[in-house]
Amino acid sequence: MLKVAIFASGTGSNFENIADDQTLKDRGLKIEILVCDRPKAAVIEKAKRREIPTFIIQPKDFENRNYYEQAIIKELVNYQIDFILLAGYIRVITTTLLDEYPMKIINIHPALLPLFPGIHGIEDAYNAGVTETGVTIHYIDEGVDTGPIIAQQKVPVLAHETLKQLEVKIHYIEHQLYPSVILNLLNK
Ligand code: GRF
Repeated sequence: MLKVAIFASGTGSNFENIADDQTLKDRGLKIEILVCDRPKAAVIEKAKRREIPTFIIQPKDFENRNYYEQAIIKELVNYQIDFILLAGYIRVITTTLLDEYPMKIINIHPALLPLFPGIHGIEDAYNAGVTETGVTIHYIDEGVDTGPIIAQQKVPVLAHETLKQLEVKIHYIEHQLYPSVILNLLNK
């Protein structure tokens, strides 16, 4: 069994997709907890509906990021978490958490890293006029969307395609790629 925490700040379509994946469940994936830094994020309701506990925690309530992440670690230790999946978590992870979970934190990014890091990966690629972009799954380090790449999938950007259409395509790929990477982790 692999006990994971998912960190998310927003909509939670990746959270939902992973949580509802029957193959992952059958292979032993257990989402023990959602960690969320935004009390109004839509992902919280998605966790509630699936009876997955949510730990809502905001940096503003702590003196610094070290204390913030220490409080998260305390909660993760309670749940005996083996692995962390970032799914739209908008914060940079610091050494406090990284040292506790070395090579055990992965992230999904909606572009072909190292191209277009940051929170507007899809839009930045679109506005740059690239003919292809994609999705990256990578281990986390202290940088913004840096860290060793595990898997990438390319997506063509068609002429006359709208940003909205590209977003839909990217999210579709995300919902295939993240579970397949998690399945590989479970098989290791
Ligand atoms: C995804 O595009 C992911 O690649 C990025 O944040 C977005 C989260 O979407 N890191 P959702 O909340 O899972 O719908």
